[in-house]
Amino acid sequence: MDPVGNPYSPGAGLRPPELAGRTEDISNFETLLARAAAGRATQSVVLTGLRGVGKTVLLNDLADRARRRNWIVAQVEARVDANTKGASFRPMVARSLNQSLRQVTGRVGMRDKLRSALATFKSFSIKTDPSGGLALGIEVDPQGGRADTGSLELDLSELAFDLAESAAELGTGVVVLIDEMQELDGDELAAICTAVHQTGQRSAPFYVIGAGLPSLPGVLAAARSYAERLFTYRPIGPLDAEAARIAVTRPTETQQTEWEPAAVDIVVEASMGYPYFLQEFAKATWDYAPGPTIESDDARLGIQAGRDKLDAGFFASRWNRATPAERDYLRAMAEDGDGPSSSGEIARRLGKVSVQQVGPTRANLIHKGLVFAPEHGLVAYTVPGMAAFIARQVD
Ligand SMILES: Nc1ncnc2c1ncn2[C@@H]1O[C@H](COP(=O)(O)OP(=O)(O)OP(=O)(O)O)[C@@H](O)[C@H]1O
Ligand SMILES: [Mg+2]
Repeated sequence: MDPVGNPYSPGAGLRPPELAGRTEDISNFETLLARAAAGRATQSVVLTGLRGVGKTVLLNDLADRARRRNWIVAQVEARVDANTKGASFRPMVARSLNQSLRQVTGRVGMRDKLRSALATFKSFSIKTDPSGGLALGIEVDPQGGRADTGSLELDLSELAFDLAESAAELGTGVVVLIDEMQELDGDELAAICTAVHQTGQRSAPFYVIGAGLPSLPGVLAAARSYAERLFTYRPIGPLDAEAARIAVTRPTETQQTEWEPAAVDIVVEASMGYPYFLQEFAKATWDYAPGPTIESDDARLGIQAGRDKLDAGFFASRWNRATPAERDYLRAMAEDGDGPSSSGEIARRLGKVSVQQVGPTRANLIHKGLVFAPEHGLVAYTVPGMAAFIARQVD
């Protein structure tokens, strides 16, 4: 059918035509917003899941909900890659807050507490970037002695408290959404924990919604031992069969096109419920289908084309980053399917006498983001379906 009308959206962080199967996370967040507005405390949240499971689009949806309710919202991505290298948390959060504060001020006008929160924000920003570029359009004098020590831990807590106090006066709160949170360094994570902890103790509505790989809870616990009690941890998994069917079928409902139930089954099964795979397979199926009904044969062709595309892109980009020794390690893991695998068992499979001998390879794979440690002594792939991809490799 006409690719121009293709509603599916495979990619990274691309809003799906139907955000399926996330009602519970969304309603939990709506409850957090409503409780905060009523002056009741709620825990901050950490969302964890594999690559392509839909963390970023969920986070974007939550951020939009908070913005629609006039919350002060900062949204940052802590990814360490060529484009953002060197960009630490402090300037990122200042830039994002600047935008939100200008919007909120434009909407509600200047109030006393808001003015003093803006003054605190200004000193936080000037300490971050003395040229003042991070507090553009915030026409207040900086508040000397507030959020300007240069220590992220002290400054972030003061800033969080002052912003939250002023938001509370407006019946809202402050939420900082952090994607790829596992990439933050230990000091940044510790500062975030302290800010959440201190504002919580003083009933100031400041919340952090973090998203990251399943290693994130461990990374947070290493930064602050009380982190396990500070956040509600929500694993974001593949969609169940019903939600996966909705993700596939609902986007065509308004397009005079219908999926044959058996064709939907084929796409849902091949994707294992993983949102990114669903989008990729449904998109390719649409392109193959002569229409107007999408049939099983279209789905079979679609998933074949979708798999080829995943093999050439999603999986190959990871496989190609691995050295020969790292590939051996990944191959040894594949015996356990999508895992997890025991590090000791992998060492044994590789013919090593001790787990230490393969320690550096494992560490490099973790550093490259190809595997993570779900628990001490275990490793797993960061992408679903990696074991099957490796089985298809012949080199
Ligand atoms: N609930 C959902 N229903 C339907 N499609 C979804 C859903 N969530 C995500 N998607 C689709 O899945 C793909 C991956 O989403 P997203 O980039 O948010 O994943 P992610 O978990 O952030 O991945 P990564 O860890 O690589 O950043 C996108 O194409 C998106 O449109
Ligand atoms: Mg993401």
